[in-house]
Amino acid sequence: MAVFSRIAGTGSALPAKVLTNKDLEQFVETSDEWIASRTGIRQRHVASEGETTADLAERAARAALAAAGVEPSELDMIVLGTTTPDLIFPSTACLVQHRLGANGCAAFDVNAACSGFLYALSVGDSFIRAGNARTVLVIGAETLTRMLDWSDRNTCVLFGDGAGAVVLKADAEAGILSTHLHADGGKKELLYNPVGVSVGFKPEEKNAGVRVLMTGNEVFKHAVKALDSVVDETLAANGLDKSDLDWLIPHQANLRIIEATAKRLEMSMDRVIVTVDKHGNTSAGSVPLALDEAVRSGKVQRGQLLLLEAFGGGFTWGSALIRY
Ligand code: COA
Repeated sequence: MAVFSRIAGTGSALPAKVLTNKDLEQFVETSDEWIASRTGIRQRHVASEGETTADLAERAARAALAAAGVEPSELDMIVLGTTTPDLIFPSTACLVQHRLGANGCAAFDVNAACSGFLYALSVGDSFIRAGNARTVLVIGAETLTRMLDWSDRNTCVLFGDGAGAVVLKADAEAGILSTHLHADGGKKELLYNPVGVSVGFKPEEKNAGVRVLMTGNEVFKHAVKALDSVVDETLAANGLDKSDLDWLIPHQANLRIIEATAKRLEMSMDRVIVTVDKHGNTSAGSVPLALDEAVRSGKVQRGQLLLLEAFGGGFTWGSALIRY
């Protein structure tokens, strides 16, 4: 008999500290009006001194486990999407595993930048479908503000910190209907952080430092095109029409990118989950944070059809179609 994975519970976590657009005006040449009209962002949460990706991931994981009624000892695997791990190694998934007391199960990170949660979800789903795991904790967690240049208005206004998690359980009925992952390593220069281990921790570019480098308007165009294509691919793979969708739960990078995808799907914005105004772009945290908010607010109901999508550095992009 075929085995599928279902989302048994969701959780999320945000740092307490909030940075508004007005706050940013104090130290970088920008305005609330510019940020809100170009991106839809009004505020973002920022990790405080000593608060790490693993801290946020652990809180989100505990909330998801409680919602699912699953004990850490029942987990077969933890997959964590992040591009801002606490340490180079061990993986943040291993750190979270020990804190939860789930020692023994498989645990590893996936780095697909802002698509990290969808990549991790696809891995968890695939292990369950293959019969190699029955209960998987999937997390997307980031402290991206740690690698921002706070004097660069092109990037520092866009990002925030946060985490979201889901518990997947094996089920005879399909929850995750399909996942679709893509990447194009040829576009590295448009969105990247040049610092790394093997290059000797030296920035490739003069004065680059540990920071996000981005050609925003080019990223924007690629994101819209890639997301249009992956939502079409997802519906076609399942023989479904856009009108079958109940909710679009998109990556929260820019409200204008979200609106472009909604238009492609002919969905009114009241069927789109938007958190970018409150969270900014939390990279791999963004989709599971939006999903958890939608579930806890009562918007997303059991049995509804959800389309999740994301786009990020790499480039990477992907989607998941879910019967919640
Ligand atoms: N405040 C005020 N002005 C700013 C600014 C800020 N925070 N950031 C940039 N500007 C200025 C630029 O310097 C530029 O000025 P110029 O015309 O004098 O050179 C002007 O605003 C327009 O810049 P442009 O880059 O063309 O604006 P845009 O409409 O493309 O919006 C982004 C910029 C970054 C908001 C938009 O391109 C974007 O969201 N891109 C996608 C980024 C993204 O999602 N990345 C993560 C993907 S996961």
